[in-house]
Amino acid sequence: MAIEPLSVQFVCLGNICRSPAAQAVMESLTASDPRWQGVVVDSAGTAGYHIGRAADSRMIAAAKLRGYDLQSRAKQFERRFLCSRTLILAMDRENYRDIMLLATGAAPNVRLFSDYLDESWPRDVPDPYYGENDGFEYVLDMLEAGCPKILEEILSKKDSLHSQ
Ligand code: 4NP
Repeated sequence: MAIEPLSVQFVCLGNICRSPAAQAVMESLTASDPRWQGVVVDSAGTAGYHIGRAADSRMIAAAKLRGYDLQSRAKQFERRFLCSRTLILAMDRENYRDIMLLATGAAPNVRLFSDYLDESWPRDVPDPYYGENDGFEYVLDMLEAGCPKILEEILSKKDSLHSQ
């Protein structure tokens, strides 16, 4: 059987703020270290409100100031990702519940992003869409704290993941 590449799927509600930013932060990390090369990174939204649209201009601008280039086009999360992704990371508990509604049984590869953060951070990556600009900065702070930990974990489990 062909071995699928390790893959990480970030999921938020609209796929125009938090998850595309998470994708960009993660892609910047995977490009920076040969150990992480080949990890596939993707993002999606549980809702289909913004399908085909670029990321929110406020998120694009905040990310650009930190060196991230958001090139995403919004798409909706699909059930098939549940079996094709190594790890699916919900930005908040509502996203997590919505993903699990599509799962027919246990889905141990679905996790909350904040599972990778210490308790100084909130459980949910807060939705910045209806807020002020500092909300976008806070999201990026959380993503930059969590993404390296996620990569460390999936690399440490690489052999067992591939033998499943
Ligand atoms: P995201 O933010 O889930 O981080 O992409 C949102 C974007 C759009 C909406 C809600 C959240 N909306 O209601 O349109």
